[in-house]
Amino acid sequence: MNVLTACELRSKYINFFVSKNHAQIQGKSLLPENDPTVLFTTAGMHPLVPYLLGEEHPAGKRLVNFQKCIRTGDIDSVGDKSHLTFFEMLGNWSLGDYFKEEAIKMSFEFLTSPQWLNIPLEKLGITVFQGEGNIPKDDESAAIWKSLGISENRISYLPREDNFWGPAGATGPCGPDSEMFYYTGDAPCSADCKPGCSCNNWLEIWNDVFMQYNKNADGEYEALKRKCVDTGMGIERTVTVLNGKSSVYDTVIFQPIIAAIENASLCKYTGSDNIDTDRSIRIIADHIRSAVFILGDPKAVSPSNVGAGYVLRRLIRRAVRHGKKLLKSSSGEGINLSVIARVVIDNFKETYPELEENISFIINELDKEEAKFMETLQKGEHEFEKLLPNLLKDPRKIMSGRLAFKLYDTYGFPIELTEELASESGMSVNKDEFDEAFKKHQELSRSQSGQSFKGGLGDQGEMAVKYHSATHLLHKALKMILGDKAAQKGSNITAERLRFDFILDRAMTADEIKKTEDIVNEQIKKDLPIFMETMSIEDAKAAGAIALFGEKYESMVKVYTVGNSNEDFFAKEVCGGPHAERTGALGIFKIQKEQSSSAGVRRIRAVLE
Ligand code: SER
Repeated sequence: MNVLTACELRSKYINFFVSKNHAQIQGKSLLPENDPTVLFTTAGMHPLVPYLLGEEHPAGKRLVNFQKCIRTGDIDSVGDKSHLTFFEMLGNWSLGDYFKEEAIKMSFEFLTSPQWLNIPLEKLGITVFQGEGNIPKDDESAAIWKSLGISENRISYLPREDNFWGPAGATGPCGPDSEMFYYTGDAPCSADCKPGCSCNNWLEIWNDVFMQYNKNADGEYEALKRKCVDTGMGIERTVTVLNGKSSVYDTVIFQPIIAAIENASLCKYTGSDNIDTDRSIRIIADHIRSAVFILGDPKAVSPSNVGAGYVLRRLIRRAVRHGKKLLKSSSGEGINLSVIARVVIDNFKETYPELEENISFIINELDKEEAKFMETLQKGEHEFEKLLPNLLKDPRKIMSGRLAFKLYDTYGFPIELTEELASESGMSVNKDEFDEAFKKHQELSRSQSGQSFKGGLGDQGEMAVKYHSATHLLHKALKMILGDKAAQKGSNITAERLRFDFILDRAMTADEIKKTEDIVNEQIKKDLPIFMETMSIEDAKAAGAIALFGEKYESMVKVYTVGNSNEDFFAKEVCGGPHAERTGALGIFKIQKEQSSSAGVRRIRAVLE
């Protein structure tokens, strides 16, 4: 069999859909603009949400692209055959153009036609939505698949958990989907072996989502004004199965990275799920690839203790830890992350030139974080050694979980390493006690800082939501101080800060900055409610809502008001949300920087403390 590379799959997919009148559009940043609901772009549909909800797309109604994505919800499963934190997704989109019939026919043609992927029919299985409440069973999709030659006994009808997609964050477009599976064994195990069969050989490679609903902030499913199609084909998985491999790590996508790790560690990779060194090598390969893409992104963040920066820190530190583990079973000199990172960059720079453009930033940040973590580890080990003589006095040879937690809390020393050091001295750690202390600490720090990092993506980033509300207050305050002309030009929110671009042809004075800050803090102190109403764009403007110039709005829009009522309010703006419930939750607003952004445009960076 010929090897199908990621590059070939990408170009086949794009060419196929271009031949079906789709316009190719660019994939977007891994760090979503102005979307407080997620930390990273988690699916190809993510940057397209406004268009799936009704915005016109400048490139038309039929689009195709590939998109870099990060999902860390399953980070603990990385190391098995298939889980990845970074992956690439191919997608074709209909924005109120074709729906089920054409979408499924095109999917079928791309998968089975000898000119495209040429997958034999008996290797394909399908799932469709079984229905729930008001949303009917998707007999329509099943009938289309059958008309194309898929037999009924290869079609599974599954519940919401399997066949209803989205939204990507807490709110947004969603709908029933139909998924395409590839049989990874020799041939289906029985006449009615289908996805979900206990033989466990069906692997999902593609997903056609029929976007019909918008889940709103109240958790209700509203019908979308125009139906859309969102599809996603995972590049890594598809390359894996089409090359007859059983693991993503055995493909051309990962081989060079794994070879570099083998070289540096002098550990041999055998491709087994059950061997510790193999798992560590996979984890290092995956995590460094993700870190390189985050650091190489045009909107890169640095490792930190919050938001996307925290995920990045975890990825890098976990890679370092597994690097250290590998060295225990080899005579290697040690893995320098940046050496592996260079291999990742070399392998992906043709498709993602930003990696090459940002190479020095990527390498610097990796080196710095690695050094910082090494220092942490050394301190932790030193502290542990100081504790050891006392610990050994315990006849049960159990180290208390509270002490292990102290090492973690004071020195950032990971529990796994405490356990390792303890076991080297014939001791164990009271893990339940540690977990308890850890949980208490998490709850405490969450309620203290009001920040939510729940590990999974798709969690509503509480901090980002607050920054979104602070942005409305700032926008209004600027207009009060500088006049109505100080309109918004751009806005970017992370869990750490807001950035706001607005029209002004000179620098603000120190006095103006101070006054702006004071106005915002006054509104926070008043603990004003923030409420939302839906109305026509004309009514919104008549009611005094700020709408963005040049922005296309639907006829009905959401308007967020900061104030006690429509007669007595501070700010009113046309906006998709979400927002904090009251201004009192925001904290203290501080402008850190005011500088030029481009000709006639100023940029403010502000934080909530
Ligand atoms: N949004 C869907 C998915 O992630 C299809 O693109 O599977």
